[in-house]
Amino acid sequence: MDARNDMLRLLNGRREGFSLEQPFYTDPDFFKLDMELIWYRDWLFVGHDCELPKPGSFITVQIGDYPVVLVRDQQGRINAFHNSCRHRGSRVCNTDKGMAAKLVCPYHQWTYELDGRLLFARQMADGFDKSQFGLKPVACESVAGYIFICLAKEPADFAPMRAMIEPYLKPHRLSEAKIAFESTIVEKGNWKLVWENNRECYHCAGNHPELCKTFPEAPTVTGVQGADSDPEMLAHWAKCEAAGLPSKFRIDPAGQYRATRAPLLRDAVSYTMTGKRAVKKNLSDSVSADRIGTLMHYHYPTTWNHILIDHAVTFRVLPISATETAVTTKWLVHKDAVEGVDYDLAELTHVWTETNDQDRRIVEENAFGILSPAYEPGPYSELHEGGVIQFVDWYARFIGPRLAGDGRPAL
Ligand code: FES
Repeated sequence: MDARNDMLRLLNGRREGFSLEQPFYTDPDFFKLDMELIWYRDWLFVGHDCELPKPGSFITVQIGDYPVVLVRDQQGRINAFHNSCRHRGSRVCNTDKGMAAKLVCPYHQWTYELDGRLLFARQMADGFDKSQFGLKPVACESVAGYIFICLAKEPADFAPMRAMIEPYLKPHRLSEAKIAFESTIVEKGNWKLVWENNRECYHCAGNHPELCKTFPEAPTVTGVQGADSDPEMLAHWAKCEAAGLPSKFRIDPAGQYRATRAPLLRDAVSYTMTGKRAVKKNLSDSVSADRIGTLMHYHYPTTWNHILIDHAVTFRVLPISATETAVTTKWLVHKDAVEGVDYDLAELTHVWTETNDQDRRIVEENAFGILSPAYEPGPYSELHEGGVIQFVDWYARFIGPRLAGDGRPAL
């Protein structure tokens, strides 16, 4: 209860436009509240439909204390379940991904159908009712190739998010793509520091030489203000929308998710050192327009994305502890693109592999400095860090009412 009161007091007393007080980035009890009030209650991006290509394909994910398995069933639906056996609780699937005709618990071989029903439990007492011991379901939605889950018993309505984001994503046909490469790095910093760093490019010129060859640092691109008064953005949206690609800046009323399309620098079409495409085949058979730039889509607290003409780079944030965060990056290409023929994997992944490592170091140095007893919240640049101000405001407005007990995020 003390941590709740402390967090509420610090939120109520916080200085807007300034970074948060130290415990938000370091305190294990504050971290538990973040998990309980945000991560265990909201829709979280966990993976892509194309990672579950066939009935029996599964992937697993760990959300704080909750192991979850996602599996495609015989009807082609993607289901999510708590990955905890209904016998004595063992993890049923214990690898990151795989294929299984049925889900068989390795401990005593209780066997579950791909839709979660318990099919077989050997030598249980007469009268044992299998129908009472199916895997516990987790709410699961798929939108344009992105799978979201929600651990809450009564999930928030997913429809508004789907309605806004689907038209932007759908032309890129990510549900039919393939993962060319994925990497997971652990950053020694709180999940909010990972996001704060992501939401601005104030740091880019000094830290990201590879990314800065193609990605604009302009706050109208990276932030959440001024895009609709930037002539370059307006011209880009007009051109892309004429080609059938929704592109204008849109953000939900609570600020939890946003989509917009932005041009890359000069004549660049992709995130490579030359700005030229990394993959010969277009990512989507439905998109052929030249120079579509990047479709940028974020959804707090789990994902930001860049979708280009030739590939997509998607990011998933998962907190491990108050001071550790896993960031998983996936590079998606057309399903028929062949490594070594259509793309060189090192070239495809170079810019974001370097950028991720640079961001890891930045976040870790940020976290290190915040541990100092001398740390106090500092002012964000309104010009360059509007996106960070927006993220921190979203966080405070989202968690504050939940702390206070009304259970709903403020709009
Ligand atoms: Fe799963 Fe026993 S714990 S079969």
